Amino acid sequence: MALLVLILCYRFDDAKLGTLVGVDKYGNKYYENNMYFYGRNRWVEYVDKVGMDYDGSQIPAEWFGWMHYKTDLIPTKDPTRPKYSWMLDHTENMSGTRYAYTPYTTTPPKIHPWTPPKPKATST
Ligand SMILES: *[C@@H]1O[C@H](CO)[C@@H](O)[C@H](O)[C@H]1NC(C)=O
Repeated sequence: MALLVLILCYRFDDAKLGTLVGVDKYGNKYYENNMYFYGRNRWVEYVDKVGMDYDGSQIPAEWFGWMHYKTDLIPTKDPTRPKYSWMLDHTENMSGTRYAYTPYTTTPPKIHPWTPPKPKATST
């Protein structure tokens, strides 16, 4: 128990007691304990495989609404959630990594690098 508290404090700067309300398909665990103040009573424990490299964009859209008190219904208990075939899978924000999205440009560059002229051959 003490080790678990230590691990939680190390990873999330916090060790809270709460009820596990759900796990998303990426393995993030969502907890709630209404004994804490509103705004601090819902939290996520990110999946172990991300280690210390977690951020809010790893929370999928289904759970975003619950985390931000937009709804009190967790995704699995809310039948009104739309599900369409064209909906893409959630991806975290890859900005700052080598997988960052870079749009293809069709604009030719206005500034071109200078290439020094070749030195004339000197006859000796
Ligand atoms: C991704 O993160 C960058 C840097 O924090 C931010 O500027 C950008 O708006 C984010 N993109 C999305 C889609 O959230």
